[in-house]
Amino acid sequence: MNGKSICLIKKTGKVKNLDEELYKKDFLDLDEEMCTHFGLAHTRWATHGEPSALNSHPHRSDNNNEFVVIHNGIITNYKELKAYLITKGYEFESETDTEVIPKLIKYVYDNREDDSISFSTLVERVIQQLEGAFALVFKSRHYPGEAVSARRGSPLLIGVRSEHELSTEHIPVQYKGALLKEDIKEKNDHNRQESNINSVGDGRAVEYYFASDASAIIEHTNKVLYLEDDDIALVRGGQLSIHRMNRQAGEDPVRAIQTLKMELQQIMKGNFDSFMQKEIFEQPESVVNTMRGRICFDSNTVILGGLKDHLKEIKRCRRLILIGCGTSFHAAVATRQILEELTELPVMVELASDFLDRNTPVFRDDVSFFISQSGETADTLMALRYCKDRGALTVGITNTVGSSICRVTDCGVHINAGPEIGVASTKAYTSQFVGLIMFGLMMSEDRLSLQKRRLEIIDSLKDLPELIRQVLSLDGKIKTIAEELYQQRSLLVMGRGFNYATCLEGALKIKEITYMHSEGILAGELKHGPLALIDKHMPVIMIIMKDACYSKCQNALQQVTARSGRPIILCCQDDTEVIGDAYRTIELPRTVDCLQGILSVIPLQLLSFHLAVLRGYDVDCPRNLAKSVTVE
Ligand code: AGP
Repeated sequence: MNGKSICLIKKTGKVKNLDEELYKKDFLDLDEEMCTHFGLAHTRWATHGEPSALNSHPHRSDNNNEFVVIHNGIITNYKELKAYLITKGYEFESETDTEVIPKLIKYVYDNREDDSISFSTLVERVIQQLEGAFALVFKSRHYPGEAVSARRGSPLLIGVRSEHELSTEHIPVQYKGALLKEDIKEKNDHNRQESNINSVGDGRAVEYYFASDASAIIEHTNKVLYLEDDDIALVRGGQLSIHRMNRQAGEDPVRAIQTLKMELQQIMKGNFDSFMQKEIFEQPESVVNTMRGRICFDSNTVILGGLKDHLKEIKRCRRLILIGCGTSFHAAVATRQILEELTELPVMVELASDFLDRNTPVFRDDVSFFISQSGETADTLMALRYCKDRGALTVGITNTVGSSICRVTDCGVHINAGPEIGVASTKAYTSQFVGLIMFGLMMSEDRLSLQKRRLEIIDSLKDLPELIRQVLSLDGKIKTIAEELYQQRSLLVMGRGFNYATCLEGALKIKEITYMHSEGILAGELKHGPLALIDKHMPVIMIIMKDACYSKCQNALQQVTARSGRPIILCCQDDTEVIGDAYRTIELPRTVDCLQGILSVIPLQLLSFHLAVLRGYDVDCPRNLAKSVTVE
């Protein structure tokens, strides 16, 4: 399964009223003696089995709910485990991969060597048997007042909340072998006392929230600690401790509690009907936040703090490899040409899954960029590990502070677009775009021959927020076009050069939230196949901007109109030549060629939004898709 999980443990007082919409099942347990409240819940996107009550989490070991588990990720060896457990008499009730986990922990418990075995030891033994990716939270009747969580490959963080200041912001990691006997347990109990998080105020009330994503808990606390792969976190008697099996060289011996800058209001819809719409309209501000403190428009300098110590090494490299999935990959496509120009280096753009499938050769003198809004995308993370193992310098371009990609890369740039909640990525794309352009500007600062070009781009970046506002003001016109198109089955988006990425990204937005067929087509490929699709019935959007590809795009336009096509053209304001051949136009303000893609993508974000609303779909939660794709 793939989704977000959350569990709440509160040392004292009442359990928070968690947002009902988020949860399919809600289990509460109250241990009077410890005065500990516990809730366990989950939102689910199916990897195995249809979304149904039976396939929902928590999954359980048996009818008595001896062990219950929620899981984000995928268990790739679940078939083998299930077959084994069936031979041991276990009966499965769901179609999920997850269900093997509660069954397996019960099996380990039922076959324990003695009664003193701890809950965290059981979990440790279970995760040794699991392959794939997981963030897990366990609860058991046999261990009242306790909850255990563990992760490998899927994100997991713990929110910590207290009315008063916490007694410590650093949780030491405790190491132990797999067979934890009572004496070791006691020793660890002693250690645990030293690492207790207490509220300085009353020494008692602390709440813990386990979640896959900070936006799920920000309503309750902005203090979080991120678990590393193979960490096991135990809350017992209201105290948190973190364990690992073995100590590795260079490992951080503590998990630090960080304070998130995210505000609750950032993850509310405000006056908008959907997060996607809100995030589209936030773009004049989000691009400014990406540039803030990095571009000095007086001195025309660009400094990316996260990269400056590595700049010499990057300048000496053999090539740049930009890697991502979906929209993040499109940000790489959008900026490739200008990065080639400004860095004078070969630039490869790669879809993470394909990059891995090909076992692509990577060398020590390569610099690899991992572009990801969430910072948790499984394929991108695997490609990152692949490049790291081969000695390449790894650079993250992410929107999520503390995410796995942030932590694993050697250096990077936070795009600071603010939380993106809608599954369809919008403001993260334009901020990734700006982030990569800033990297190119920083790389070319001392190249005399590139100064004119640099200044032109920096000047245009200054005007960008205002130009985005002008594009957003076309919303009404775009809605009218959507009203004409929403019953169509297919929509082609054509362009080339700096605007080819807009075609790919626009088509992705359309298929993702409207479920219409849509294809981004390189206009140069028209004669090599796609032209056969053109007739008066096929809706075509063409992007024709006044750049080096202008006359080639006009050529493509002639080919479309000659076959009775009725193109909707995204063009520059007052481009009378093109406007004459258009069925409809969306006229955009003009900017420097390499930034035009930021302006040309916004009408397609808006168009996909209106099409989805008119077709009656939930724009924020498209079917079959998750915001963070933490499984392969
Ligand atoms: C975009 O609208 C999609 N939801 C999707 O393509 C997304 O960009 C992709 O899954 C990569 O996610 P990431 O940026 O979080 O790595």
